[in-house]
Amino acid sequence: MSLLIKNGYVVTPEKTTIADLYVENDTIAVIGESLTQRADKSIDASGNYVIPGGIDVHTHLEAPVGGTVSSDDFETGTRAAAFGGTTCIIDFATQSKGQSLHEAYELWRKKGAKAALDYGLHMIVVDIGEGRIEELDDLVEEGVTSFKLFTAYPGALMVDDATILQVMLRAGKKGALVAVHAENGSAIEYLVRKALLGGRTAPIEHALTRPAIAEAEAVHRVIALAQIADVPLYIVHVSCEESLEEMRRARQKGIAVFGETCPQYLLLTQEYLKRPNFEGAKFVLTPPLRGYADQEALWKGLQSDDLQVVSTDHCPFLFETQKRAGLNDFTKIPNGGPGIENRLQLLYHYGVNQGRFSINRWVELVAANPAKLFGLYPKKGVLRVGSDADIVIWNPNRKHTISAASHHMRVDYSMYEGLEVKGNAETVISRGETIVDQNTWSAKPGRGKYLKRSSFAGAWSTWK
Ligand code: URP
Ligand code: ZN
Ligand code: ZN
Repeated sequence: MSLLIKNGYVVTPEKTTIADLYVENDTIAVIGESLTQRADKSIDASGNYVIPGGIDVHTHLEAPVGGTVSSDDFETGTRAAAFGGTTCIIDFATQSKGQSLHEAYELWRKKGAKAALDYGLHMIVVDIGEGRIEELDDLVEEGVTSFKLFTAYPGALMVDDATILQVMLRAGKKGALVAVHAENGSAIEYLVRKALLGGRTAPIEHALTRPAIAEAEAVHRVIALAQIADVPLYIVHVSCEESLEEMRRARQKGIAVFGETCPQYLLLTQEYLKRPNFEGAKFVLTPPLRGYADQEALWKGLQSDDLQVVSTDHCPFLFETQKRAGLNDFTKIPNGGPGIENRLQLLYHYGVNQGRFSINRWVELVAANPAKLFGLYPKKGVLRVGSDADIVIWNPNRKHTISAASHHMRVDYSMYEGLEVKGNAETVISRGETIVDQNTWSAKPGRGKYLKRSSFAGAWSTWK
């Protein structure tokens, strides 16, 4: 199969040029002006942008959280992602206490067998007892080249500083990247207990018991641990100015600290958790939504490169049946929200259309940098000869009102209900196959391939 994409504005982090792309099977074969190759299919991309497919490095599909399971699986989640211009995800496999890392990895590979998009896996490590630490090395060989640790959720996912240090040292030796969900779990646990004892049970208490400074403290601490281990560090879902300040200070000292934020922290505030009729539960996610000053700081962080990635932390739960479990106790609301479908649309509309950054920076934040940091570059995240033909034809004029009534995620609400955005994916191509065209889906579940990712150290050497 061959495909010719003509006359589009081809966008890279460095520049935008009018060019044609010729795709042979699953790979970009030629990029140039006025190409004349005969192809099985031709697309006229005049007036549209041609971008590398988005890469979402933070998703939780079919994930066990708070006694329930996130409502999108690898089939529905990757399908929804594709409609929004994402062609690759990295999901979080999660070790259970006492479980071997191999078992957790195999379990997530089974879940991933339904994926419609190519996917990679990080591993959330919760238990390194009984010689488990050595298993990290085997996972790196399997292409799991990033490990996530939690300083939050005591009794469930939280690990102590010694464990963090051991994982950093072991991962560092293999050139793998350590990512941290940073919040002071013990302090938060105390604040939560106090709230419940005081009869404060509404969704807003979720945010009030998880103050920004509890996030920043943990960011500071794990940066110090990364310094001791002498390894690079990635902070997931940065939500507030104080955390960003810690990261900026470290980066100015030359410490390799990278980070992501998510659309919800750029666009929504804590006020949403006060919505009546328990609707605030739709916005219970962790770290919690913050304020306008934090939003401004995060946008600036994306501009200044103190943050390098925008992911979604897609972790959806049905409002009617899953979120309602916490009707009388905010701690029983499963933490997480949907967004895998809307990342490129929201970032394009509020970032590029509103003049916060260029279209080139947008491509860098949603595709190129995620690929570079997580060992997929230049196979993915860039339009280059020899790269996978993961290509999105982006129509900058296509308007779209975000709504649960029309989205493809398996969840009964949208955090962005009613927002009108301009700019959307017109055609989505994954390894040369057109999977979305004019809002029509034509791919099979299970077509997605598991991606054995390179080590961070290897990826790092090709950076810039
Ligand atoms: O609320 C969230 N983010 N749920 C998913 C798990 C996590 O902390 O990333
Ligand atoms: Zn997290
Ligand atoms: Zn997450």
